Amino acid sequence: MKLNIAVLGGDGIGPEVIDQAVKCLQAVEENFGHDFTFTNGLVGAAAMKATGSPIPEETLTLCKNSDAILFGAIGTPEYDNDPMAKVRPEDGLLYLRKELDLFTNIRPIKAFPVLSSNSPFKRDVITGTDLVIYRELTSGMYFGEKSLSEDGTVATDLCRYTEEEISRVAHMAFKAAKKRKRKLTLVDKAHVLETSRLWRKVVTKIAESYPEVELTCMYLDHASMAILLNPNSFDVILASNMIGDILSSQCNVLIGSAGLLPSASIGTEYAMFEPIHGSYPQAKGKNIANPVAAIYSAALLLDHFGLHEEVNAIVSAVHQSFRKEIVTIDIMGSTKYGTSSVGDFIAKNIVDADDNLNINDENIGLGKSTII
Ligand code: IPM
Ligand code: MN
Repeated sequence: MKLNIAVLGGDGIGPEVIDQAVKCLQAVEENFGHDFTFTNGLVGAAAMKATGSPIPEETLTLCKNSDAILFGAIGTPEYDNDPMAKVRPEDGLLYLRKELDLFTNIRPIKAFPVLSSNSPFKRDVITGTDLVIYRELTSGMYFGEKSLSEDGTVATDLCRYTEEEISRVAHMAFKAAKKRKRKLTLVDKAHVLETSRLWRKVVTKIAESYPEVELTCMYLDHASMAILLNPNSFDVILASNMIGDILSSQCNVLIGSAGLLPSASIGTEYAMFEPIHGSYPQAKGKNIANPVAAIYSAALLLDHFGLHEEVNAIVSAVHQSFRKEIVTIDIMGSTKYGTSSVGDFIAKNIVDADDNLNINDENIGLGKSTII
């Protein structure tokens, strides 16, 4: 398959983990006879420094002319500590999501049995965790009208949703649930928010066209506890932009490291793949960041184009790295491996899969049925 891939490393550890993801895609290209072209683009603080804009026109054009976008991370402490900054690196990512209409954000959360001792949760709580969050990504509080009074003492962020915005992401979530364990949980604040009541109304109506899927509506207050106490009770979670953001961060801690979870942001025309972890500026350039979330994001990219065998090759190679303890410091304090050597090992095991022939791992096929 011929694919043009835009590579936006962004800030912090973004570029170094994305380098490992590209290495793995190149290994897939070589091993499976594909033709991938990678083109780098600037985004975030790095782009602001070079061009004044967190998302330069050139990057936008590159993304629009590509089949898929591989995205690293965004944000630097300079701006975190300046709440009055007029333009922030994050604006680049938000603009990209909106401009490319990437309305469905898919975040699969799967426990790795071999890493269960890394989780702060008890083994029997996390064992078998396999859920996926469908987060609305282009509306809600993130994109509603914002205001700040002239004296700077009153601020607003409007949370606005239309039926159409809810309906299109809901259909994506129901279709995914149909292929999985046929359970969908809508997480909202319908006891408080008018937008949540609209979500419930729209989603409950849509549920009638998916009779095989069992819909549960749950308040965020309950869901935020239940997801940590009993992650196994969830299959597909559907949530608004803000609620989905919070829940997915919670899930980061469930499985033992923030460096393991990928995501896919899908629209009708474009698709972008990015690790859930942030830019982790403290680790920038130290070659200690975990590249697995970025590598799994590359696997989701392949999954999006139906390249399932290639996805399995990446997932097997990652599992091999866990098994051989070729992991970064967040997974094993005493490790002697860094970001690039973990990336090298995984890429090499994609090409030379002999080593993997004996693997019979329940996590194989990470993205198998999560992307439509
Ligand atoms: C995420 C991130 C972003 C978000 C930030 C970087 C704007 O936290 O993708 O979860 O809040 O959506
Ligand atoms: Mn987040």
